[in-house]
Amino acid sequence: MEYEYLQFSRFYNQHVHLGITGSIAAFKSLQICRELMDFGIQVSVTLTSAARNFVTPLSFEALGITPVYGEMFSPQNNAFAHLEPSETAQAFLIAPSTANNIAKLAYGLADDMLTCQALAFNGPLLLAPAMNPNLWSAQPTQENIQKLTQRGNMVLGPKSGEVACGHTGEGRLTSIPEIVFNTLNAICNKDMKDQNVLITLGATREYWDPARFWSNPSSGKMGAALAIAAWLRGANVHCICGPNKAWLPGDITSYDVTSARQMFDKTLELWPNTDIACLCAAVSDFRPESVSETKFKKQEKMQENPDHLNLNFTANPDILQTLGERKTNSQKLVGFAAETDDDLFPEMKSKLHKKNLNLIVSNKINQSGTGFGSDNNEVNLLDDKSNHQQLPTLNKADIAWKIWDWTLKI
Ligand code: CTP
Repeated sequence: MEYEYLQFSRFYNQHVHLGITGSIAAFKSLQICRELMDFGIQVSVTLTSAARNFVTPLSFEALGITPVYGEMFSPQNNAFAHLEPSETAQAFLIAPSTANNIAKLAYGLADDMLTCQALAFNGPLLLAPAMNPNLWSAQPTQENIQKLTQRGNMVLGPKSGEVACGHTGEGRLTSIPEIVFNTLNAICNKDMKDQNVLITLGATREYWDPARFWSNPSSGKMGAALAIAAWLRGANVHCICGPNKAWLPGDITSYDVTSARQMFDKTLELWPNTDIACLCAAVSDFRPESVSETKFKKQEKMQENPDHLNLNFTANPDILQTLGERKTNSQKLVGFAAETDDDLFPEMKSKLHKKNLNLIVSNKINQSGTGFGSDNNEVNLLDDKSNHQQLPTLNKADIAWKIWDWTLKI
């Protein structure tokens, strides 16, 4: 999987049924299967006869998918194969879903294996349409989509762009991570429902001329894992992201900022409507005292002081500490501490109190394979009741999950 740091282990052994219909985007369904299987999810598949013109049952069998359904009356099927996904799967995803498939679902037609299985299915049904933009914008398709969404089914995309026939418009299958993570969302317990969660993530950049800035190697992966974990658990998530932000699903509201002061302004604006804030960003504590509008020339600086560059810095506001000062009893505040010392607890304790936090998460950034930019992390947790825990090396997704488990308990 492209996003290994987002590989939440808690979906292991869940079951998703994937329906594939006759669109050229059907080839992407193989990748969707692989990515779902990377979470330890069991995937079963149904291919319509049109889909089998684009991808073969063998392709899915070779991925280890079982069962792969096709014709309704195939001798390989059990007598009640049309009911099996309704008994085994937690979510039913159809990707790609054509105009014809959407029309059948809207009217409850069940004239092939896929539509019959979908009609019998009581759990969450997700559709990822893919078709020519004229087919998508056609009034009957739009009316059918409206029927399906009103019934509580989830429609993912389509997105705009150039489609296979060369036309441009809305009709492309939405991105694979969007499909995969929305499917996970559909099968996840909502123990953070209605919580407004605010997260800062990534590094900030402090420019001193148009070509140069002061920053750090934060990738935003830990913050993205936190944001996605909270969203999967039902929270309304707002992210304030430094320039090198990691991928986030479209349902998460994100605000792009560059400097610490921009991050400060946006965070403070959103804080009064926040239930839980987790400030994960690696904020530059200092910024150059003066910023040049034009790129400074090396030769000019060398004339001032040969072989040296002297810069003066001034302090940026501490966003976390400012939120701590304004925190009400109903709000929770989680902070991070990036450390290089072996004994992390004294520093964690002091930051927890100084910044009025409910929970602090520390990580050692001078350890290879964890911390800045990596998929894994090794963190310690300390809460305001002095409970603490040292977690083993885990991927950032599972750490994020545990941070929310702790936060919900405080
Ligand atoms: N933080 C912040 N605003 C800043 C600096 C830090 O909101 N200007 C937040 C970070 O997002 C993190 C926490 O404060 O949640 C701790 O950041 P860290 O860099 O570990 O500590 P500092 O308080 O900056 O102290 P020091 O760098 O001296 O360890």
